[in-house]
Amino acid sequence: MLRDSFGRPLTSMRISITQRCNFRCRYCHHEGISGASGDEMTPQEIRRIVALGARFGVRKVKLTGGEPLVREDVVEIVDEIARVRGIEDLSMTTNAYYLADLAHELKRAGLDRVNVSLDTLRSDVFSWITRGGKLERVIAGIEAALEAELTPVKINMVVMRGINDGEIHEMLSRFSGSEVVLQLIELVETQGDFFRRYFFDLDELEEELARRAIAVHERRFMHGRRQYQLNGARVEVIKPMHNSRFCAHCTRLRVTHDGKFKPCLMRSDNLVDFLTPMRRGAGDEELERLFLEAVLRREPFFRESGEGKVGNTLDTG
Ligand code: 5AD
Ligand code: SF4
Repeated sequence: MLRDSFGRPLTSMRISITQRCNFRCRYCHHEGISGASGDEMTPQEIRRIVALGARFGVRKVKLTGGEPLVREDVVEIVDEIARVRGIEDLSMTTNAYYLADLAHELKRAGLDRVNVSLDTLRSDVFSWITRGGKLERVIAGIEAALEAELTPVKINMVVMRGINDGEIHEMLSRFSGSEVVLQLIELVETQGDFFRRYFFDLDELEEELARRAIAVHERRFMHGRRQYQLNGARVEVIKPMHNSRFCAHCTRLRVTHDGKFKPCLMRSDNLVDFLTPMRRGAGDEELERLFLEAVLRREPFFRESGEGKVGNTLDTG
């Protein structure tokens, strides 16, 4: 297993397979990108880079976007990755809009589980957040995922003050007793105005969960976050910003849709391009060098003492 210069193991890759998305969520910085597909990696290129990671000890792969399911060859991509020896956990973050039709096929191709973005159970609020998205289709997608055993299904709920902060308990009871984990996510700053208006601090809520929990699991390789088990429900609280614990326990290398290693979620100034060399015919040795270079560039963004500057670089998924 590889470790970076800060001793953090590298065990997972998070791969954006497209920047395109059928929604335009208000908090998402990709907002408005419908984009062309020309610079996206092919399924074979994705497989080659996963195989390279696996040789260095990567065991988990998460596919993200944009919205991964807008790619017509998404099942082929899953199939290619699932064949790579050493990958034990293959998951996808999706808005679930196209999931009802694809869940079983994805499972057959080798997808283990999904994370679904769902911030509210009210269709008018959902439509506002996503600028026109249809809630019923997403709920149908979640149900299909449960049926296809893409489990545990993790629901990503970005909590926003005055928008959905009153729905947390309702979400918990809606999904309690099923193979669902509710992940409550603190809003990450993209454009200042939205953040200032809607940021909702989850500290107090986390204290309440800790008091009510019948069990707590610390998920060491998942940014050190804790999972609270309540009566029938499982909840996690995710605070990526100004959180040295989050960074200290980061085990991932990101890959952009256009074939660059991205050593840190919060930065875009230290990417390592591998797709250009790959398309020019680079051999495995050269690609390995690039991979190691990217791992060397990994450093915690938020630290105990001081922290870096936040750029507008959040990648979603
Ligand atoms: N703050 C927090 N989470 C975000 N996501 C996207 N933008 C933000 C943001 N500004 C996350 C959500 C969504 C996933 C695709 O990315 O969890 O479910
Ligand atoms: Fe699309 Fe996800 Fe961004 Fe919403 S948050 S616009 S679903 S990529």
